[in-house]
Amino acid sequence: MKTRILKTKDRNRRRNIKAAARLLRKGELVAFPTETVYGLGANVFDPRAVRKIFRVKGRPADNPLIVHVWSIDQVHFLARSLPVMFGVLAARFMPGPLTVVLRKSEAVSKEVSSGLSTIAIRQPDHPVARALLKEAGVPIAAPSANLSGKPSPTKAAHVLEDLDGKIAAVLDGGPCRIGVESTVLDLTRRRPMILRPGAVTQEELEEVLETRIAVARNRRVRPPSPGMKYAHYAPKAEVIVVEGKKGEIVSAFRHLHRTMKRSRIVGVMAEESLLRLFPSVPTFSLGRDVVSAARNLFEGFRAMDRRNVNVILCQGFPEEQMGLALMNRMRKAATRRLRV
Ligand code: TXA
Ligand code: MG
Repeated sequence: MKTRILKTKDRNRRRNIKAAARLLRKGELVAFPTETVYGLGANVFDPRAVRKIFRVKGRPADNPLIVHVWSIDQVHFLARSLPVMFGVLAARFMPGPLTVVLRKSEAVSKEVSSGLSTIAIRQPDHPVARALLKEAGVPIAAPSANLSGKPSPTKAAHVLEDLDGKIAAVLDGGPCRIGVESTVLDLTRRRPMILRPGAVTQEELEEVLETRIAVARNRRVRPPSPGMKYAHYAPKAEVIVVEGKKGEIVSAFRHLHRTMKRSRIVGVMAEESLLRLFPSVPTFSLGRDVVSAARNLFEGFRAMDRRNVNVILCQGFPEEQMGLALMNRMRKAATRRLRV
């Protein structure tokens, strides 16, 4: 199959979004941009198309998909009941990078929810995603558009790296603004729980819901979210995450680089200001702060792989606000973690 690349920055935008919507309605898979990462979409009401998602990604069948909606009205049809908290969250964070887990309705097939009685729903905020969802006229089930186990795609080129020739089309909407996947919040428990941290932070959710919110810890046995038990986001290179004060991180990087460089290609991923201390090393800039680090992280992993780096020394950040999501993804990719 030849994967069509549908641009959205030029005068063909409308035509290309319509073409993508048509493919989805026909049961094909189309990758599309969201503000978090690119998604791999299928019509939620077409079980054959949904099964294709699992096949193409190599995704374990027990890992359910997020359903993307154009309007909050569509949620009434997908969920059995809407808790009061849902209304509060929708008013404040939707559309946006927040996914909410609710009890599912009969309308949702077992393929989408991997046999669970719940469903994850999100209303993305990216203009191309919104236009596509509106044009398609049906909710779209979509995981991140990467091969299972690879870092999520934040550019159309990443989608093609993993899925070229395996899907009907990718809508190219440029790089994603946020760069890590949405916050997943489970509202089916007695107390809401963050299953996956993201750009809607624990602090913001606690403020809006006026309650303490737990963050699920990664567990391999009976995790609250099936996705938690799978190793994720890992580049081919070994990733060593170093956490601590910046000065100590630099010393640790120097030491590690010196001891490993004879046998392996060692690269550094860190914020811009630290990179000039490593002039003769393959480096990738995470930008100026924790928000840009989140935006750049997955591109950095892929860029280091393209440069055949064997070991990535990666700067850790404080785990507050967006730092919680950033460090969650970094640790999932890490083979080793050091505190200095
Ligand atoms: O930002 C995002 O969320 C992106 C874009 C495309 O929307 N999507 C995404 O999907 O990251 P995916 O499939 O890569 O991650 C979905 C996560 C998985 O960890 C999955 O286990 C969890 O959400 N999930 C889905 N349905 C669930 C459910 N009913 N209960 C608990 N966790 C669920
Ligand atoms: Mg994913």
